[in-house]
Amino acid sequence: MASHSPWPLLLLLLLAVWIGFSAAQSLVLPVGHDAALRSSDGSSCPTSDPTLYYRPVIGILTHPGDGATGRLSNATNASNIPASYVKFVESAGARVIPLIYNEPQDLIIRKLNLVNGVLFTGGWAKTGLYYDVAKKIFEATLARNDAGDHFPLFAICLGFELLNMFISQNHDICERFAGENQASTLQFSISETNGTLFQRFPQDLLTKMSTECLAMQNHMFGISPKKLQENDALSTFFKVLTTTADVNEEVYISTAQGYNYPVTAFQWHPEKNAFEWGSKKIPHTEDAVRVTQHTANYFISEARKSSTRPDPQEVLSHLIYNYKPTYGGYAGKGYDEVYIFT
Ligand SMILES: *[C@@H]1O[C@H](CO)[C@@H](O)[C@H](O)[C@H]1NC(C)=O
Ligand SMILES: *[C@@H]1O[C@H](CO)[C@@H](O)[C@H](O)[C@H]1NC(C)=O
Ligand SMILES: *[C@@H]1O[C@H](CO)[C@@H](O)[C@H](O)[C@H]1NC(C)=O
Repeated sequence: MASHSPWPLLLLLLLAVWIGFSAAQSLVLPVGHDAALRSSDGSSCPTSDPTLYYRPVIGILTHPGDGATGRLSNATNASNIPASYVKFVESAGARVIPLIYNEPQDLIIRKLNLVNGVLFTGGWAKTGLYYDVAKKIFEATLARNDAGDHFPLFAICLGFELLNMFISQNHDICERFAGENQASTLQFSISETNGTLFQRFPQDLLTKMSTECLAMQNHMFGISPKKLQENDALSTFFKVLTTTADVNEEVYISTAQGYNYPVTAFQWHPEKNAFEWGSKKIPHTEDAVRVTQHTANYFISEARKSSTRPDPQEVLSHLIYNYKPTYGGYAGKGYDEVYIFT
């Protein structure tokens, strides 16, 4: 009798009806209604914001030397990017193209058109080809924003000092500070974080940043609030976000941002807390690492607003993945890993 049971047939019929019904239903659902809930492959993931770019690429300008005073390379044309800056960018969802300061300038310009933002690292070079190329990139960054692209620049430590020189057109604008190898607090000069680097920092972290030493400093130069206010070009360009006192209680600007451009300048090192180990002064607490992470997230959230849509294949051929970092941390000082370009 079992072979003549009507149940298998009935189940098959029900299945066919159900499949037909589901197919018909997905056809009749209005497309507009569906789009908010389903992506094109039919899964129920909300569609991402089409005005943002989710494959951002950041150009990092190389700095003269091997980053290790000759321990890693003595090549006269060597330049470097400490890997911590690369990791900082990568950790927030972007890739890096090195802008090698001494390569042909038309190549640097081509690479600039493949990126959605630029980073100037720390270092010591303030003259010569490096200075000239950094200045041209800064001017190109402003021009690109003027032309309607949202094109962010992060200028860290030496990067901030260079911007002060470019904007004021005074090579000696920076002042001496005793800011070498020390962690510090950041004192906020703003009452409202919206529209700044700090806009999505949790309140508890903002409070801790002003009372605990979560910002790594390593500089001999900087600019005081007074000096900046006295210079029209600088005071109309930069809004002061935070200040910090050095070991002699001399106050310098630790974070600033452009009023009219997505330019953020740091005298401190947001990239070190998570990625550098050569100095015992670098804070590595969970809160210190959160500072690195929130700062990186802000930078890349700005880069996603860029309207540049580079050719994907051309991006691949210039990515930093074409180069290998060198381990320099065994010396127990300096950068742990460095990309060296020769
Ligand atoms: C570079 O030169 C210095 C001084 O002569 C030397 O101590 C160092 O080992 C050299 N570095 C490399 C990577 O060969
Ligand atoms: C934050 O600033 C943006 C523009 O920068 C503005 O559109 C938004 O309304 C502001 N939000 C708050 C909560 O003030
Ligand atoms: C550096 O010098 C080497 C050897 O002379 C050369 O092959 C290389 O292209 C140079 N690199 C740069 C970035 O100028």
